Amino acid sequence: MELRNCCDSARIHSSARDILFCFPVLLVRGLGSASWAQLTVVTGAGDGIGKAYVLELAKHGLNIVMISRTLEKMQKVAFEIEETTGRQVKIIQADFTKNDIYENIEDNIKGLEVGILVNNVGMLPYPVPCYFLNGPDSDTNVINCNITSATKMTRIILKQMEQRRKGLILNISSGVGIFPCPLYTLYSASKAYLVSFSKALQAEYKSKGIIIQVLSPYGVSTAMTRYKQTDILTKNANDFVRESLNYVTLGDETFGCLAHEILGFVLKLIPLWILHSDRLQKKFLEQFSDIGRNPKNT
Ligand SMILES: NC(=O)c1ccc[n+]([C@@H]2O[C@H](COP(=O)([O-])OP(=O)(O)OC[C@H]3O[C@@H](n4cnc5c(N)ncnc54)[C@H](OP(=O)(O)O)[C@@H]3O)[C@@H](O)[C@H]2O)c1
Repeated sequence: MELRNCCDSARIHSSARDILFCFPVLLVRGLGSASWAQLTVVTGAGDGIGKAYVLELAKHGLNIVMISRTLEKMQKVAFEIEETTGRQVKIIQADFTKNDIYENIEDNIKGLEVGILVNNVGMLPYPVPCYFLNGPDSDTNVINCNITSATKMTRIILKQMEQRRKGLILNISSGVGIFPCPLYTLYSASKAYLVSFSKALQAEYKSKGIIIQVLSPYGVSTAMTRYKQTDILTKNANDFVRESLNYVTLGDETFGCLAHEILGFVLKLIPLWILHSDRLQKKFLEQFSDIGRNPKNT
C-alpha cells in the first residue's frame, strides 16, 4: 500500500488532553498539542507495542510508515488502519538485526515529512532470564536491533526535524534499562544505552523545538512477554500506548503509564546490592525453571 501524499490535510483530531500525573503531580498536555505532525514512522510496527502505536496514531489522524520484519503482519495492520481511519500507510520490510538496511529505509522515506518517529523495535536475547554465558550468542543481533536501529533511524530522521524545527522522537527502552539488571544483562545494557542516548540528545535538540523522550515500561502483554495475563502491573499494549501518549510533553523520561511509574519509584528505593545479590538471582532463576517445567504457567 502506497502512501500517496504524506503531507495532506491529516491532522491530529484529539483535543489537548490535560491529565494529572504522579511524581510530582503535574498538569501536562499530551499528544493533542502536536497538531503539526502529519506522518509518523514506527519501527517494529507489525505486532505488540509498535502495532498499538500505529493504530493509535492513525486514530489521531496521522499517516503511517511501518518498518518491521514480517510483511504479512504489516499488511494486515495497514489494512485495518486504512479501513477504520482512512489514513494512508506505507510499509517498509526490514530486519533490524542487519546493518545494511538503512540506505533502503532512507530511500523509501525520502521526501516524506516525518513529524513523529517511534524507535520501538527491540528483542530479548532469550525468552527467560539466564546468566550471560548460558544464553545463546545473539550479541550482534541484540546490539543491532536494540541499539543500532534507534541510533540510525534517529540520524536519518532528526536531520529533517531539525530543519523544520519541530518533531517528536519516542525511544522505547525498558524498566530493566533503568538499573543494571542481572540475568537480563545484555538486554538491560542495550536499553540503558537508549536512556542515555535519548536524554543527552534531548538536551542538544530541546532548543530546536524537538521533543525526544525515552519510555521505560515494565510488563506489557505482547509476544515478547508471551502474552502474560494483564493485571494492575501488566498492561494491555493498546492501553499502554494510549496512556503513554498523554505524557509526551512531561519530560525526557517516563515509564509510560502510572502503574509502571509507581513500580519504578518503588524499585529505585531497593538498594542495588539487594537486587544484585546471588540469593535473589537464584530465587528468580528457580521461579523461571518452574515455568519451564510447567508450560501452563507461562
Ligand atoms: N512487552 C514488554 O513487556 C516490554 C517491556 C519493556 C520494553 N519493551 C520494549 O518494547 C518494544 C516492543 O516490544 P513488544 O513487547 O511489542 O515486542 P513484540 O511483541 O515481540 O513485537 C516486536 C515487533 O518488532 C518486530 N521485530 C522484532 N525483531 C525485529 C527485527 N529484527 N527486525 C524488524 N522487526 C523486528 C516484530 O516483528 P514480527 O512482526 O516479525 O514479529 C514485532 O512486530 C521493544 O523494544 C521491547 O524491548 C517491551
